Amino acid sequence: MKVSVIGLGKLGSPMVAAFASRGFEVIGVDVNSEFVRLINEGKPPVFETDLDEYLKKNKERISATKDYREAVLNSEITFIIVPTPSEKNGNFSTQYVVQAGKEIGKALKEKPNFHLVVLTSTVTPGSTEGDLLPVLEEYSGKKCGIGFGLCYNPEFIALGSVINGLLNPDFVLIGESDKRSGDILESFYKDFCLNNPPIKRMSIINAEITKIALNTYVTTKISYSNMLAELCEKIPGGNIDVVTDALGCDRRIGHKYLKGALGYGGPCFPRDNRALIFTAKRFGVELPIAEATDKINRHQVQRLVKKVLSFLPKNGKVCILGLSYKPETNVIEESQSVEIAKEISEKGISVIAFDPQAMENAKKVLNKVSFANSLKEAVEQADLILITVPWKEFKEIQPDWLKDGAILFDCWRILDPKKYKGKYFAIGISS
Ligand SMILES: NC(=O)c1ccc[n+]([C@@H]2O[C@H](COP(=O)([O-])OP(=O)(O)OC[C@H]3O[C@@H](n4cnc5c(N)ncnc54)[C@H](O)[C@@H]3O)[C@@H](O)[C@H]2O)c1
Repeated sequence: MKVSVIGLGKLGSPMVAAFASRGFEVIGVDVNSEFVRLINEGKPPVFETDLDEYLKKNKERISATKDYREAVLNSEITFIIVPTPSEKNGNFSTQYVVQAGKEIGKALKEKPNFHLVVLTSTVTPGSTEGDLLPVLEEYSGKKCGIGFGLCYNPEFIALGSVINGLLNPDFVLIGESDKRSGDILESFYKDFCLNNPPIKRMSIINAEITKIALNTYVTTKISYSNMLAELCEKIPGGNIDVVTDALGCDRRIGHKYLKGALGYGGPCFPRDNRALIFTAKRFGVELPIAEATDKINRHQVQRLVKKVLSFLPKNGKVCILGLSYKPETNVIEESQSVEIAKEISEKGISVIAFDPQAMENAKKVLNKVSFANSLKEAVEQADLILITVPWKEFKEIQPDWLKDGAILFDCWRILDPKKYKGKYFAIGISS
């Protein structure tokens, strides 16, 4: 089977590579000529685990173009994975989805046989049928369900493990315009996935609600744990790890995302939560849990900055270790580490930062921060070292790297406190 993928970014290019690895012929489309060139050369346009290797290994089944017509006419399914940027009110813009829909529609006009269009970008409930479907019908001159089919099929992957997440999902979510379209997509996933996951088929609107409801549930769990961590820190003897280790044994709760550390960031969690709040307001419903989750998340940055100021000696220097929004990625979108670095440096405090992957991106937004060439160089200069992202590389910090009187503040508790006696503090542990 031949498939096309519109949008070759952080999610689109791993999709191309993963689809090709399972024997599908894949044509990628992007408006960015550089991304098209790189994919054609078997090189990754974005930083993602295993992407390089998968693109190289499956090069003969992969091509890329800027030409929608070529992609649509030479494939049976077209996945749309273009950006849906957040607007101020929390809504996701469908500007790029609609642009893609127009081009796909024009190509469909020339295509005699049935074609399935699959929207994978995250959208606000109502957008697939409200924004995309009308342009597909208008530009193709065909009726949805007859000349072409439409599905909403978001992915639940995490940056840093996108290819593995695509190949081995917990479940596949399919919102379908009609049974024939859902059958085609289900059959595609049965061939594609390695782990035979449950496939949940439903109406498009229910799939749209499910997508952002799922991420909002996960963020709720994170904020809940962060709330408990703050409490444990304040109660003498409190220790968040001891508490969550026991809590997570209850199968209704589980251990995942029950850490109690810094808040969530990245291109999905914060905005999906706000999009659910926006959607609810449109229908006259209040979502106090989602609102509290967002509030608790924003509070993490403020409380960390306050802590740093209380620990830091006069004219002291702060070292921030970690700038990406999580380990194994160079993405800094909504990164709490970047926000903390910004706030502290803008108070006139000297800040040096180090991150194994995200420094180039961070340099574009942190103009009052200096950047170290190595972990050791960053640690040696500081009076207060703040570990904001649990990169495994940071476990290599040696106690003798710390200058006299310097302290370590470990937001994710990745170091052994015994090694840094008297110098070690952490989120979630009373001191
Ligand atoms: N990154 C994630 O972790 C993740 C996870 C789940 C869902 N999503 C959703 O996936 C969507 C895409 O996210 P991303 O992170 O891959 O975005 P991205 O910005 O990394 O990539 C999008 C790509 O689409 C291209 N593009 C834009 N308009 C186009 C058009 N009209 N035609 C062809 N190409 C076009 C851009 O040039 C870019 O290469 C968003 O809706 C996002 O919310 C992302």
